[in-house]
Amino acid sequence: MKIQRIEATPYPDQRPGTSGLRKKVTVFQKPAYLELFIQAIFEVLPERHGATLVLGGDGRYYNDHAIQIILRMAAANGFARVVVGRRGILCTPAVSHLIRHRKTLGGIILTASHNPAGPDHDFGVKYNAANGGPAPEPLTERIWEVSKTLHSYQIIEATQAIDLQTPGSTGLGDMIVEIIDSTADYIRLMEGIFDFDALSRLLQSPSFRMRYDALNAVTGPYAQDLFEKRLGAPQGSVVQGTPLPDFGGLHPDPNLIYGKSLVDPMFRPGAPDFGAASDGDGDRHMILGRQFFVSPCDSLAVILAHAHRIPHYRGNVRGTARSLPTSQAVDAVAETLGIAVYETPTGWKYFGDLMDAGRVTFCGEESFGAGSSHIREKDGLWAVLFWLSILADTGKGVRDIVYDLWQRHGRHYFSRHDFENLPTDNAETLYDDLQKGLDKLPGHSIMDTTILSADAFAYRNPIDGSVTDHQGIRIVLADTSRIVVRLSGTGTGGATLRLYFERVMRGPGRLELDLQTTLSPLIQFAYALTDIRRRTGRTAPDVIT
Ligand code: G1P
Ligand code: ZN
Repeated sequence: MKIQRIEATPYPDQRPGTSGLRKKVTVFQKPAYLELFIQAIFEVLPERHGATLVLGGDGRYYNDHAIQIILRMAAANGFARVVVGRRGILCTPAVSHLIRHRKTLGGIILTASHNPAGPDHDFGVKYNAANGGPAPEPLTERIWEVSKTLHSYQIIEATQAIDLQTPGSTGLGDMIVEIIDSTADYIRLMEGIFDFDALSRLLQSPSFRMRYDALNAVTGPYAQDLFEKRLGAPQGSVVQGTPLPDFGGLHPDPNLIYGKSLVDPMFRPGAPDFGAASDGDGDRHMILGRQFFVSPCDSLAVILAHAHRIPHYRGNVRGTARSLPTSQAVDAVAETLGIAVYETPTGWKYFGDLMDAGRVTFCGEESFGAGSSHIREKDGLWAVLFWLSILADTGKGVRDIVYDLWQRHGRHYFSRHDFENLPTDNAETLYDDLQKGLDKLPGHSIMDTTILSADAFAYRNPIDGSVTDHQGIRIVLADTSRIVVRLSGTGTGGATLRLYFERVMRGPGRLELDLQTTLSPLIQFAYALTDIRRRTGRTAPDVIT
């Protein structure tokens, strides 16, 4: 088959963010926009000749089109084999696993995670490296550099579309396209970690009911195969289980606002015992008990606290890591276990190095993501299986498990306020001005305590000594309360300013306070300090989680 070199004009805006290149579908539809970005990825991979690539996505609009293009480009760029999920479906954790399991050069994930999908919404391309994790920053920066001056891409001539329905191998030029069952390898991985017999007993017990909401996104087929077919949960335990190109109009971000289709039935009388949901590409999780919501920071802490119940982790937990804004609940658990805690910038890529070096077993973020060294991405269904295993082993309900944590370590009240779609200049000026005034803050009193330190977080990678700065502003109080302020790296329109608040309360009567009221002294202080209402013209955040 003939390789064509197609001339095109480079774009200046292909800098990958926290999690790959995310843009509106209409941007990806500009002439050669997708093709040039893919070529830029291939250009920084000289080892691609004769190598294997994993390819799949969350099923969103433009996935099908992009897969056909990428396959023809991979064939023209010297790859020997591309492993593709059936119908182009692979959740992000499954890609991470496949890269590691099949020892491939890397993988391309077509996803904009939880961002809405459809012709007027978002699309994304993310490259994961040979360790299964998101490409490290030096690599993504090189991709961006290359993209700015790339005037052509290589592709083999169009024939008919490659059939993605039927598992098996076919030739495309000199390359093999291997279509695989999307869920099988991932489920085998989970079987090696968790006690599936114990899980089957729980899910088949007449006194236990679960509801898993896939939000019409990628995890539907995984959840059906796992919970219903493999573990025997009653049919209908998985809802909204078919991945739709527009996610059925949902915003598959599992939180109290966008996860309403799960939250509402879980807060009704007669609710199931356990509820869970994942995001668009399957790396996030939300856990609910009957009339009870588990904060993601607490979910991470619970996972660490109960790790000894899971065969794979028993006696085998190294350290733990959390992103800067994530609450210190997990630190409290780690302290009692005598293991290290690493504080990293936001985004999963920073955890990868720590895992590769054998320093940490569990990681997590406040944004509904947790995972372990079994792969190099956060993992939604893994977290759900972890929780189910805790319930199976303790015989307790979700609420009791969380109360045990609070009673032991205090409750880390945590909330995030997002101001979305701000004019970029406006948000950046606010942030810069805040940073300039940090020196004056220590010693200032809030509530009945004082500010201990205020700085811009810079992360020193303990493995290679590299420093990543400007990762958010942190204001730490003497009683361990914190305020963190940062700009999002995953948005596709304007800037999103995120403010995070954390305050720990201990003892009887202090575990069931109203969340926003408990945090309000910190919130008031941060709003006044940043003058956010006047500067943004917003009276309230767009999203509070
Ligand atoms: C957000 C989350 C972050 C997560 C990322 C990718 O990034 O805050 O924790 O790793 O999505 O899922 P942000 O938009 O804040 O840069
Ligand atoms: Zn995601």
